[in-house]
Amino acid sequence: MKVLVQANRCQGHARCLAEGPDVYVLDDLGYNSTNVDDVPSHLADQARRGALACPERALTLVEESSGSGEASGSTPTVRRGHR
Ligand code: F3S
Repeated sequence: MKVLVQANRCQGHARCLAEGPDVYVLDDLGYNSTNVDDVPSHLADQARRGALACPERALTLVEESSGSGEASGSTPTVRRGHR
């Protein structure tokens, strides 16, 4: 599972961090700066809860389907930094 952050949507609500403290990282200004290409399976629930908790829908999870090489999800854009 990959975490995609749309930095232009993040408003610093920090709900992702509250729901997924072992997955999500905020920068010094409180914006999501997570850069995870492969969420460990034992943290997948945290990743999902954090993404669902974001009121700005700034987080997209891409789940790699085993075997086919295809990924599901949307908004395949990774951005870092802020505006
Ligand atoms: Fe940003 Fe949403 Fe987290 S607005 S800090 S990604 S809850």
